Amino acid sequence: MRVPIIAGNWKMYKTMGEAMGLVNAIKKSLGSFDKAEVVVCPPFTALNTVYGLIENSMIKLGAQNLLWEKEGAFTGEISPVMLKDCGCEYVIIGHSERRQYFGETNETVNKKMKLALDMGLMPIVCVGETLADREANKTNAVIEAQLKGAFADISNDDMANVVVAYEPVWGIGTGKTATPDMAQAVHKFIRTWLTSNFNADIAEATRILYGGSVKPENAKELMAQDDIDGGLIGGASLKAESFIAIARNAIA
Ligand code: 13P
Repeated sequence: MRVPIIAGNWKMYKTMGEAMGLVNAIKKSLGSFDKAEVVVCPPFTALNTVYGLIENSMIKLGAQNLLWEKEGAFTGEISPVMLKDCGCEYVIIGHSERRQYFGETNETVNKKMKLALDMGLMPIVCVGETLADREANKTNAVIEAQLKGAFADISNDDMANVVVAYEPVWGIGTGKTATPDMAQAVHKFIRTWLTSNFNADIAEATRILYGGSVKPENAKELMAQDDIDGGLIGGASLKAESFIAIARNAIA
């Protein structure tokens, strides 16, 4: 059985003080909840502060990006060594906002995946189509190209540490959520792709999260789908109440 993940992507929100308030509130309302892995992904500046507060709890830490080099003259970038040093276990790679605004490509996603895995960080690799892709019936083709790029030369052993997040670009921050059937169809497509390109055991074991306007009200129906193994939550992860409500509503 796949252990679901409820991950909060805080994006470029929360100063250190605000991050402390949020993570303390999450910790408190989470109590002894253990039906899903709970991951928070604060901005870089709050990673270590947050880690100090969750170190001995069940909450895990993730970053939102990294560079494909361990160190060097790369002004403004963050290396996986630094993320590990801050207490990160997970790292989001290839989020559509990085692809859209910061030139992330399937090739750079792959380079980041490889170094993250080498360094013992677990990638949460994001894929998703734009509205134009969907309207042109290109959803599967786009997802397939993203998967091919991201997973080029990744070994079967490394696959045990990879999480996939399907986030339709048109559903992010828009209030428009894919219907459970639409989301399930893409999740199933991703799992089938993993079967063909790795093997059935790997496909069965890989967690595939859904992201895009997930809220306490729609989480249950989405997470009930066979191939949806949790959520990558943006806006609703910025308040402990809604974030925890998603975990509690979604995971029976
Ligand atoms: P929203 O939940 O705000 O739509 O964001 C989803 C997302 O991009 C998570 O990575």
